[in-house]
Parts: sequence; C-alpha cells; structure tokens
Amino acid sequence: TKAQAWSALFSEPMSDLVKRYTSSVFFDKRLWQADIAGSLAHAEMLAAQGIIAPEDQAAIERGMAQISQEIESGQFEWKLDLEDVHLNIEARLTQLVGDAGKRLHTGRSRNDQVATDVRLWLRSEIDLIGGLLTELQKALVEVAAKNIDVILPGFTHLQVAQPVSFAHHLLAYVEMFARDAERMADVRKRVNLLPLGSAALAGTTYPLDRERVARSLGMEGVCQNSLDAVSDRDFAIEFTAAASLCMVHISRLSEELIIWMSQNFGFIKIADRFTTGSSIMPQKKNPDVPELARGKTGRVVGHLMGLITLMKGQPLAYNKDNQEDKEPLFDTVDTLKDTLRIFAEMVGGQVNPTTGAKEGGITVNAPAMQEAAKKGYATATDLADYLVKKGLPFRDAHETVAHAVKAATTHACDLSELPLTVLQGFHPSIEKDVYDCLSLHGSLNARNTLGGTAPAQVRTQIARHQARLG
Ligand code: ARG
Repeated sequence: TKAQAWSALFSEPMSDLVKRYTSSVFFDKRLWQADIAGSLAHAEMLAAQGIIAPEDQAAIERGMAQISQEIESGQFEWKLDLEDVHLNIEARLTQLVGDAGKRLHTGRSRNDQVATDVRLWLRSEIDLIGGLLTELQKALVEVAAKNIDVILPGFTHLQVAQPVSFAHHLLAYVEMFARDAERMADVRKRVNLLPLGSAALAGTTYPLDRERVARSLGMEGVCQNSLDAVSDRDFAIEFTAAASLCMVHISRLSEELIIWMSQNFGFIKIADRFTTGSSIMPQKKNPDVPELARGKTGRVVGHLMGLITLMKGQPLAYNKDNQEDKEPLFDTVDTLKDTLRIFAEMVGGQVNPTTGAKEGGITVNAPAMQEAAKKGYATATDLADYLVKKGLPFRDAHETVAHAVKAATTHACDLSELPLTVLQGFHPSIEKDVYDCLSLHGSLNARNTLGGTAPAQVRTQIARHQARLG
C-alpha cells in the first residue's frame, strides 16, 4: 500500500528518522473528534452544493461513525506512517467506504483542516476551563463567607501593614479569577471562526458554502482571508497568554498558602491529601500541591514563549513550523485544567456524598491570624487618622504616631497597650475613645469605602459574587 498521500512524485520513501521527526499523530490524535466533526460538516456542505453525491455523504457518515467507535474503544490503529490524525482518519475512511472517502478532501487541504480542528478543540476546552474557573471562584467565596470577621495582618513588602478581613483577602483572588474567565470568554470569540474553505492557502475552485459549514459547527463566522486563516496561530497564543495569567494568579495564591501554613505563621491548614510527608523527617507535611502549581506556572509561561516565538519568522502562508503549536497548547490546557480542579477542591473541599456537606477545604486558624495582626503595629495608620479627625494635618499626625510606635517598641507592647496618659504625652487631643480605633475590629470597620475591608463592604461583595456565580 501507498504510505503517503502524495507518493507518486517521490523516487524514494521517507527515511524512518524523518518519518518519526515529521509525524505528529502520537500527540495530535487527541484532535480526532474535532477532525471528524469538521469532516462531517464539510461533507454535508459538499453534498448540499452538489459537489459530491448524497450517497457519498451517507457513506462518509457511516464510515466516520465506525471510526469514532473504533477510536473510542481503543481499537483504532494509529499509524506513524500516516503522519497525523487527519491522514490516519482519512485513510481508514477510504478503507471502509472506498471512493466516497477519497472524495471527502475535495476543496480542502490539511492546512485549513488542521486550523479548524485546533480551533474546534480549543473552543470546547475553553468552555471546560470557564466552568472550572467558576468552581474555583465559588470555593473561594464560600470560604470567604465563613470568615468575614476573621482578621489577619495585611502586608505590603511582606511587612505587617494594616489589618484586613480574611474574606476580603480571598475575594481579591476571586476578582483575579473573574478577570481570567472574562479573558477566556473573549479569546473564545476569536477562536470560534472557521478556516475551512481556505484550502491550502488561496481558496478553492469549488463552489463551497463556508457560512453553512460555520453554522453547522456552531462557529460565529468564517475567517475572511485564506492566507491568514491557514497560517496564523495568534488565537492559540492569546489563549496561552490568558492561561499564563491565570496560572500566575494561582501561583500567587500558592505562595500565600505556603507561607500561611508554615509553622512561623500557622494561619491555615490544608487537608492531608494535598500534602506529602518526608522520607527522612517524620514530622513533615509539605505543601506539595501549591508548590507544584507555582512550579507549573513556569512551564505554562514557557509554552507562551514557545508559541509566540514559533510564529515570529513565518512567511505567509502555512509552514510546517505550525505543527509545533500542538504540544505546548495541549500541555497548557492539561496543566491549567488540572490545577484549577485541584485548587477548587483544596480551597473549598469536596461534597461528602452521605452528608451533602462540603468538607476537607482549608482550615482557618483565626486566633493565630488575629495574634499576628496585633504584632507589627497594624493600627498605626488608624491612630494617625484619629489625630487627623482631631484637627492635625496628616503629615504631623504621621510623625506623632511614629514616636508612639517607637515608644511601644521600647516597651515591647502594642499601641493599644500603652496607658492613656502615655498616649496623651504624644498629643493632648488623644482621649479614651482612641482605644476603639486601635482595636483590630475598629480598624476594619473604619475602612468602609467601596472595595474596602470593612465587614459591611465585604458582605456586599460576597452577595455580588454569589449572584454572579449562581
Ligand atoms: N500535522 C500538520 C499540522 O499540525 C497538518 C498540516 C500539514 N500540512 C502540510 N501541508 N504539511 O500542522
């Protein structure tokens, strides 16, 4: 049998090394469903346009149904000799239905075929990722809703800055993941356009109805320039950029979880099933999952660099370089999906089928957070604001409080532990009500501007997210 679709012209077969080097079937076979869907839509249109006979279309449908079954059941024999998923499926189709199979490729090239397949495949993956992003946001909102009044030190420069609600802290990540979901939805619009009908590069001589194919594949429209349609992979780059940002958000969260669960903080625990022990140190429970996620972020950002560099030197139109888009793209999707899934579970826990309750999410150690918030003079700004309300210019108040902090440091106590007489030594306008503003709850409640950490604001935000996420 003929080993290649084009072999009449060739005086010698491809070398084994070249075959292995150029073939993509062992990774692009995962596009098989998209490939078959694209072929069926193309065949349906060819028949509707009178380019192939209705019997040919019926035969193609019959053959493809069998091929789907063979692939699903693991019986399909993928052949390296047939290079890629497209040629493997087409060869099997022809084996099954004869000439009708050979007619399928009328008015089509693998160049528009592969671009279509990748877009169809990526579209459904984007939808899955959107669902996973919703799950992760829901998990964060659930934990937030239970921890509105839990206070931890907010940091800048990883130095204690001002007290914040733990819920407010978690909702910061909800905002990030909400933007990630928006970006994915936006990328999807540009992914969901049809290259088929562009053929190799210039369009085709057959009277194809491209709009019909786009409609039957649920695509939003057709690519408007055949050269562009077969050659650019900007949609894959854009997707990987959105995925990279999402991984960067996961990585920041990972870093915090790792810090929070170190013995020196002790703010949270994550369930044992997300940690591993040490082969030498019996006491260890290591946060391997967040550490790996932080590491895998580098891998996904690397894929973005790979893909964008892949594109930069390519003249129009299709070049085989583009076959290299698949492994980074596939690995980006796999890594992102696994990471989102595992984080939703690690943060929010899993539903116990017997009780229906969620369990196994992060455990919050509120007293440890509160203790930490009392260290580092987190309410110093509140004291300055108190003095401003008494009429001092902010810069003077700032300086006055710096003296108070210095004194408290010398006495190794918190500002709230300084006697009123001592505080009044820094400024005579200080009265007994100063202790309200020096308390952690007082500090939180005072930050009641939109987007601030006051519990009233946090409750509003939680309600907004719950309504949005359903
Ligand atoms: N496997 C190829 C790819 O992934 C399919 C397109 C090949 N086209 C070609 N003219 N060699 O891009």
